[in-house]
Amino acid sequence: MSGQALRLGVNIDHVATVRNARGGAYPDPLRAARIAEAAGADGITAHLREDRRHISDADIEGLMEVLTVPLNFEMAATDEMQAIALRHKPHAVCIVPEKREERTTEGGLEVAREENKLAHFIAPLRDAGCRVSIFIAADKRQIEAAHRIGAEVIELHTGAYCDAHAEGHFDARDAELARLTEMATFGHSLGLEVHAGHGLTYDTVQPVAALPEVRELNIGHFLIGESIFLGLDPAIREMRRLMDEARA
Ligand code: PXP
Repeated sequence: MSGQALRLGVNIDHVATVRNARGGAYPDPLRAARIAEAAGADGITAHLREDRRHISDADIEGLMEVLTVPLNFEMAATDEMQAIALRHKPHAVCIVPEKREERTTEGGLEVAREENKLAHFIAPLRDAGCRVSIFIAADKRQIEAAHRIGAEVIELHTGAYCDAHAEGHFDARDAELARLTEMATFGHSLGLEVHAGHGLTYDTVQPVAALPEVRELNIGHFLIGESIFLGLDPAIREMRRLMDEARA
């Protein structure tokens, strides 16, 4: 299994954040998506938030039209978002928490307490041919629940690991990495495809990229930030290089 490719999903939300700071159309997230594709992104991720604070409905329509790589559509478990996903039928949908009460203390979706509701919620998405991913903490209870509701993919939240690194709490960081390692193995043993993301940077990506069960990383904020200094294409290529190096 160690030979399996690791995909990079580039999250372009924060191109839209900058655009929306001034209104208008610049910078265009679709242009960023095309550059990301050319730089080696295996997929594009975009989160349509209920308040439309960054990505807009028109962005999702545009991405569905122009992308040559799969779109991973991040959304809350609401009727409105379900209807939008069913209209576009993106390659993948990733269910993420938006409200405080939907998230666990580590920041992932609270699946274990909402099993029935989420099982009903994702069924039509699966029937429509979307790969359903659930964004959860590296927690056995949540992983088991994601498996029971019929998700094909789990995305493990790397935020606590990255925060501990950024704050210089290296014992805590290593403990978080050990937890991610153990839970990636556990999720894979249940037959789930394992993805990971949130807060990853050049400094934190390699230990996660080296986990053989992890098949995809979704990375946004750092790449868009780094593109201010390097340009988007080189920023993505460097992330890709670090991932490939860790994988090898
Ligand atoms: N994965 C999921 C499910 C997300 O919601 C996000 C964005 O918060 C990311 C990955 C990417 O996180 P970041 O922008 O911190 O790289």
